[in-house]
Amino acid sequence: NWTMGNIIEEQVSAIREQVGTKRAICGLSGGVDSAVAAALVQKAIGDQLTCVYVDHGLMRKDETEQVEKDFVAATGVQLKVVDASERFLSALAGVSDPEEKRKIIGREFIRVFEQAQAEIIAEAGAAGEPVEFLVQGTLYPDIVESGGGTGTANIKSHHNVGGLPEDLEFKLIEPLRQLFKDEVRMVGAELGLPEEIVQRQPFPGPGLGIRIVGEVTRERLDLLREADAIAREELTAAGLDREIWQCPVVLLADVRSVGVQGDGRTYGHPIVLRPVSSEDAMTADWTRMPYDVLGRISTRITNEVKDVNRVVLDVTSKPPGTIEWE
Ligand code: XMP
Repeated sequence: NWTMGNIIEEQVSAIREQVGTKRAICGLSGGVDSAVAAALVQKAIGDQLTCVYVDHGLMRKDETEQVEKDFVAATGVQLKVVDASERFLSALAGVSDPEEKRKIIGREFIRVFEQAQAEIIAEAGAAGEPVEFLVQGTLYPDIVESGGGTGTANIKSHHNVGGLPEDLEFKLIEPLRQLFKDEVRMVGAELGLPEEIVQRQPFPGPGLGIRIVGEVTRERLDLLREADAIAREELTAAGLDREIWQCPVVLLADVRSVGVQGDGRTYGHPIVLRPVSSEDAMTADWTRMPYDVLGRISTRITNEVKDVNRVVLDVTSKPPGTIEWE
């Protein structure tokens, strides 16, 4: 029988056997999956694990600080924070195609992990054991939707599956690859991770990079970050965090429409709100959320975020839409 307790036991002994005395790094994204994967591997190999948090500049407001604070406090794990925003933004310059963006982000993640690997080895000196393994919080749906499952077409390359470079030198540890999100949350709770981590809404590894339809630039990221923070603040204030699975906030950077503010014409960008309800992200429905909350979000975003003069609601289920726009 398939309980969270024996999933943990089974994985812990498999990971110990696989890693031996060598070392591993784990990319932390701030999301549930990587946090639970890290906690599981830490349980198995303790200090042989170093977590690496890559700040790719595509994070939401205050996210980096939160990971540093919450996760380390909860687990006591060794954490290395790498500021790589320059590197990601220059790799993404001029790129609008969603799959291309995903592949670039997947590749840059690995390059940063390789650099972290070299640093950890250097710090340990000649006697240190090599860092051979990379831990990823890949879930079953990520594999299926990246085309790795049986008989399923490639929908989009999840950054940690279809987005990996071909010359990957790490051996992968993916202890969650048979699980769905709700099971991952149960494993996390069983491992003693706090509610704020275990119940966090999903957020994709490629971050805001796949929520800007069009080229990703620093200015556009700043704008989207403001709009997203407002939407999240209002959804939380309205007590909707549990009812809504996640609510991507998307910037249509290449679209402009005419508006009016005071007695002047504006010519700005639309922001899309995409609140969805789901069990496992494989299918989803748009959330019938209260009009007054939508109204508050719209008023605040158009008042407070420069260059945004329209807020629209996405009322598409999955399928035919996906949850993210890219
Ligand atoms: P889609 O857009 O495919 O999203 O309906 C399904 C779920 O997966 C998340 N998502 C990702 N998560 N790396 C991730 O870690 C990715 O590349 C990625 N792409 C989508 C998305 O937010 C939703 O929860």
